[in-house]
Amino acid sequence: MAALIWHPIRRLLFGLPGKPSISFDPARDIPSLADKVILITGGAGDLGKQLAIEYARHGPARIYIADLPCDDGGEAVIKEIRDGAPGCGDIVRFLAIDLSSLESVRKAAAEVTAAEDRLDILVLNAGVVLMKPDVTQDGYEMTWSINFLGHALLTKLLMPTLLQTAASTPEADVRVLAVSSEGHAMAPKGGIFFDKLKTGCSDLTYVQRYAQSKLAIIGYARELAARHPQIKVVSVHPGRILTGLFRRLQKDNLLFKYTAPITPFFCTTVENGVKNHLWVSTAPAADVVSGTYYEPVGITGKESALARDEKLSGRLWEWTEAELARWT
Ligand SMILES: NC(=O)c1ccc[n+]([C@@H]2O[C@H](COP(=O)([O-])OP(=O)(O)OC[C@H]3O[C@@H](n4cnc5c(N)ncnc54)[C@H](OP(=O)(O)O)[C@@H]3O)[C@@H](O)[C@H]2O)c1
Repeated sequence: MAALIWHPIRRLLFGLPGKPSISFDPARDIPSLADKVILITGGAGDLGKQLAIEYARHGPARIYIADLPCDDGGEAVIKEIRDGAPGCGDIVRFLAIDLSSLESVRKAAAEVTAAEDRLDILVLNAGVVLMKPDVTQDGYEMTWSINFLGHALLTKLLMPTLLQTAASTPEADVRVLAVSSEGHAMAPKGGIFFDKLKTGCSDLTYVQRYAQSKLAIIGYARELAARHPQIKVVSVHPGRILTGLFRRLQKDNLLFKYTAPITPFFCTTVENGVKNHLWVSTAPAADVVSGTYYEPVGITGKESALARDEKLSGRLWEWTEAELARWT
C-alpha cells in the first residue's frame, strides 16, 4: 500500500527512472578477492563498514579501514566487520587518518606503503556535509579538503603502489573508486570557486560547498584515469541512504530535522547503498569503463554538464598538482 502511494510521489519528485540498473548480487557476483589488499576511507562510517563486510566475505588478504582516530584504535569497527563476515580471519586493520590534515594523510599513506607492497582496491569514500564554513589547519575550505583534497593527496601518495600492483602480474586488476554524489549537480555557477578555496567559502551555501567538492571528485577521477591507463579509476554515486551523514544533518539542520519522518521513504538500505561501489570494484574489467561516473548500479550518463566539462577538470588537475606539490 505504502508503495502504491509513495511510488508516484517519488517519480514526481525525482523523475522517471532512466536506464535500468545492472542486476548485481554481491553474494553471487563478487569473485574471489584472494590476495587483494583494499583500503577504504570513511571505512568506519555506515557505507564504508558495509563495504568492508561485503569485501571480507570474499577472502581478500587485507582491508584497511581508514577513518578518524578513535579511542579504541578501531577495535569496535573491526569486530563489527568480523562479525559480519564470519571466518574472514585477522585481515582488517584500522588506519587513523584525518583527511582535513595533509600531514595526517601523508602519515597514513606512509604507514600503508611501509606495510604493503600491493594495493588492489582504493575506495575514496569518506565524506562530510558541514553546515558552517570553516578552514583547515592547512588553510583550505573544510568540506573541500575532507571530501576532495585529502583524497587527492592520498591517491597521489599511494599511486606508486597501485601502479606497482598493476604491473606485478598480467592478471592484476587495480581499481580506484571515488565516491561522489548526485548532489554534485548543485554546484555553484561555474562549478569550482578556485579563488575562494583558501577561505571558508562563506558566500556559498553548505549544499554548494558539498556539491563543489563532489563535482571535483568526478572531474579528478576522469583526469586520473586518462593519465594512468594501467588502472581503472571511476566515480560513483551510492544512492540515498540513511547513514551517519544524514543523522548529523537531522541534528544540525531544521529542514532535515522536520522531514526526518518521511526521509526513509526516499532512502534505500545500506546493503543496497554499497552495490554500486561493489560493482565498479569487482565486476569484470571489460564491463567497467575507466574515467566514468556511475549511478547505482552501473548506470552511466547522469552527470551534470559541469561534471563533463574537460576545461574545468583540466584546470582542477593543474590547481591540485600545484597545491599538493610540496606534499609529494
Ligand atoms: N548517504 C547518502 O545518501 C549518500 C549520498 C551520496 C553520497 N554519499 C557519500 O557516501 C560517502 C560515505 O558516506 P556515508 O553516507 O556512509 O556517511 P557516514 O556514515 O557519515 O560515513 C562517512 C565517514 O567519513 C568519516 N570522516 C568524516 N570526516 C573525516 C575526516 N576528516 N577524515 C577521515 N574520515 C572522515 C566519518 O567519520 P565520523 O563519523 O567519525 O565523522 C565517517 O566514518 C560520503 O562520501 C558521502 O558523501 C552518501
